[in-house]
Amino acid sequence: MTLLAVDELRVTVRRRGTELTVLDGVSFAVGAGQCLGIVGESGCGKSLTLRATMGLLPPGATRTGGDIRVGRDGLAMVFQDSHASLDPTMRVGSFLADVVRRRRGGTRAAARRQAAELLAAVGVPDPELRLRAYPHELSGGTRQRVAIALALATDPRVLLCDEPTTALDVTLQAEILRLLDTARAERGLGVVLVSHDVAVIRQVADVVAVMYAGQIIEAGPAAEVLDRPRHPYTRALISAVPALDGPVGPFRPIPGTPPDPAAYTPACRFLPRCGHDDAACRGQVPGVHALDLLHRSSCVHSIRPKEHA
Ligand SMILES: Nc1ncnc2c1ncn2[C@@H]1O[C@H](COP(=O)(O)OP(=O)(O)OP(=O)(O)O)[C@@H](O)[C@H]1O
Ligand code: SF4
Ligand SMILES: [Mg+2]
Repeated sequence: MTLLAVDELRVTVRRRGTELTVLDGVSFAVGAGQCLGIVGESGCGKSLTLRATMGLLPPGATRTGGDIRVGRDGLAMVFQDSHASLDPTMRVGSFLADVVRRRRGGTRAAARRQAAELLAAVGVPDPELRLRAYPHELSGGTRQRVAIALALATDPRVLLCDEPTTALDVTLQAEILRLLDTARAERGLGVVLVSHDVAVIRQVADVVAVMYAGQIIEAGPAAEVLDRPRHPYTRALISAVPALDGPVGPFRPIPGTPPDPAAYTPACRFLPRCGHDDAACRGQVPGVHALDLLHRSSCVHSIRPKEHA
């Protein structure tokens, strides 16, 4: 059952008096208990995709097109910067109980009890103690769990998670991802997980959408997209995943940088970094086309599976 369907989403931002198209026809869908992973380099439009879907675009950004179909009150979001999304002046218990009460009604005491249950459910030790803490008194991992508990307090059908594990170490990261998996299995929650990290997406996503320069350039079942990538950008992104024991540093997977939205031309946006360049790559921005029933790519020369091992 499809819980969320987004079709041809377009978003512009205003920069120095000019409207720039930063999301250009983004489409995806999420079913019950399914996890869609959206992956791509910094600035490709992952956060704006989630924010536009949620109806919470930042100032300066405008939705100029697209259709979003979702059940009433069906969405909740865990923001990229959980520190900023938690009110620093309120104790965790106060804002969590407020959200519970607004959503579910009941007495203040019952809401507080449910807030403690929510914290326990997301693996926060000593929930009663944590309810009395201010966000800055919590560790990064606990704060992220609180942000997830806060989103789950509204009983969403679909949870939009923007880089929910990026600031965490590998162990905590695995725990948070397991938490999302449990919520999917137990409640049929649909999850959209945004990450720049292919390894994270590989761990949890059933369906993968790869974003580049404001568009989804490849999408399909995780095994198809991650193991048999057909778009040169997806291939480059996957082969650039650092080894687990490799050096830690800024994520710079592919030589060059994505184009700035102000510099988009009517050509494939990956062309300057692709290594392939012919008339078919120029002249227009390629749209996605079906490779088979479920797998889509926007590369006009989408690599055939047998061309790479
Ligand atoms: N509030 C804003 N005002 C103007 N431009 C913005 C705003 N937010 C994002 N943008 C621009 O929109 C584009 C997409 O940004 P977005 O934050 O969605 O990228 P992202 O994929 O989430 O990147 P990251 O991995 O760094 O979080 C970028 O070019 C960015 O500069
Ligand atoms: S359309 Fe051309 S430039 Fe773009 S990814 Fe495909 S081969 Fe590369
Ligand atoms: Mg982002």
